[in-house]
Amino acid sequence: MLTSTIVALLLFSATSGATVSSPGCGKPLPGCVETGHSSDHAIDSKSGASPRNYRIHVPKSYQNTVPVPLMFSFHGRGDNMKFQEDLSQFTNTSYGFEGISVFPEGVPDVNGTLQWQGDPDSHGIDDILFTSELLDELLNNYCIDSSRVYANGKSNGGGFTGLLACDKTATKRIAAFAPVSGAFYLDKETQELPPCTPTSTRDVIPILEFHGFKDKTITYNGGPNKRHDGNSTNIPKWVDGWANRNGFNVAANETTHLCSGPRLVTRYSWGDSVIHYNYTNLYHDWPSTFPNGDTNLTTCEDAEATRVILDWFGKWSL
Ligand SMILES: *[C@@H]1O[C@H](CO)[C@@H](O)[C@H](O)[C@H]1NC(C)=O
Ligand SMILES: *[C@@H]1O[C@H](CO)[C@@H](O)[C@H](O)[C@H]1NC(C)=O
Ligand SMILES: *[C@@H]1O[C@H](CO)[C@@H](O)[C@H](O)[C@H]1NC(C)=O
Ligand SMILES: *[C@@H]1O[C@H](CO)[C@@H](O)[C@H](O)[C@H]1NC(C)=O
Ligand SMILES: *[C@@H]1O[C@H](CO)[C@@H](O)[C@H](O)[C@H]1NC(C)=O
Ligand SMILES: *[C@@H]1O[C@H](CO)[C@@H](O)[C@H](O)[C@H]1NC(C)=O
Repeated sequence: MLTSTIVALLLFSATSGATVSSPGCGKPLPGCVETGHSSDHAIDSKSGASPRNYRIHVPKSYQNTVPVPLMFSFHGRGDNMKFQEDLSQFTNTSYGFEGISVFPEGVPDVNGTLQWQGDPDSHGIDDILFTSELLDELLNNYCIDSSRVYANGKSNGGGFTGLLACDKTATKRIAAFAPVSGAFYLDKETQELPPCTPTSTRDVIPILEFHGFKDKTITYNGGPNKRHDGNSTNIPKWVDGWANRNGFNVAANETTHLCSGPRLVTRYSWGDSVIHYNYTNLYHDWPSTFPNGDTNLTTCEDAEATRVILDWFGKWSL
């Protein structure tokens, strides 16, 4: 009796980490994919454009019988999947991410500018569907822990990450969301954010937002966008919306200060599930400790987006 209880407890604790093996476990890596390298691929899509591109990086440590986390990272408008890999540094081994990184690519507008659903100039492309199609493809071909799928992105890709966090189906498949300098546009008619209807089957939808106070492209306080005919939201208001949705009193946040001097960062948190970083010295940038494709200005390690995102994603699973 005692023995069987102990065995049951051991079994439970082994599975209650909720690792969920994907159908790709046990399969050999697809041709042209080599561990420790990144490569470009495409899938057929019903998103309104086809085929759709993505770049994938499988870590050196990958074994096809051991499920690993999957990270989507969406580029900004006018950038591309390779730029996002370099900017985000998720495939830089010095950050220690042992999961699969995937950099999907948006659809070009008439001038060849790549963009995502949510941008005022993006018409009729269903990138939420594309993300779901791509997730199916990846789960079927790689050994992924499907309870640990994450999404982040920069600018338009950050705004799109916000749309995923508001989607009923995506929030059943993606564990946590981290927009960087997110472009959260207001509806032209209502001047409100689009409806946000995440699944009601989860207690909270984990959200981590980073924004430069000097951002001149997607301004911190919201309003007209200099490039587009479109207004973006006030960032603290957007974050407060998530605090509300996750059941917190907006005023009951914990406020801390990171870095110091001109690089001061104000961090707001509601439990672990809604966190916002406000960077005094940054513009429309991916916060990094060394110069990157966005900026030569730097932040300190405590507020480095890549490091903070990886630590925080590690806390969440479906
Ligand atoms: C990898 O990250 C380290 C800092 O952690 C940085 O010094 C190095 O330049 C990065 N490598 C590349 C190729 O960007
Ligand atoms: C495409 O480029 C032309 C010329 O620069 C510009 O007038 C037009 O607004 C651009 N269209 C879009 C959708 O950005
Ligand atoms: C942006 O907001 C301003 C002021 O509220 C409004 O006058 C303008 O029509 C809005 N522009 C768009 C494209 O929604
Ligand atoms: C955090 O709480 C204080 C009141 O305690 C409030 O003034 C502030 O607006 C809150 N911060 C955010 C970003 O909502
Ligand atoms: C964001 O940081 C700037 C610069 O330090 C500061 O003036 C502003 O009050 C901060 N806003 C919030 C909501 O923390
Ligand atoms: C960083 O500085 C170098 C050298 O001054 C310059 O060429 C580069 O454009 C700068 N990069 C960014 C993103 O500002």
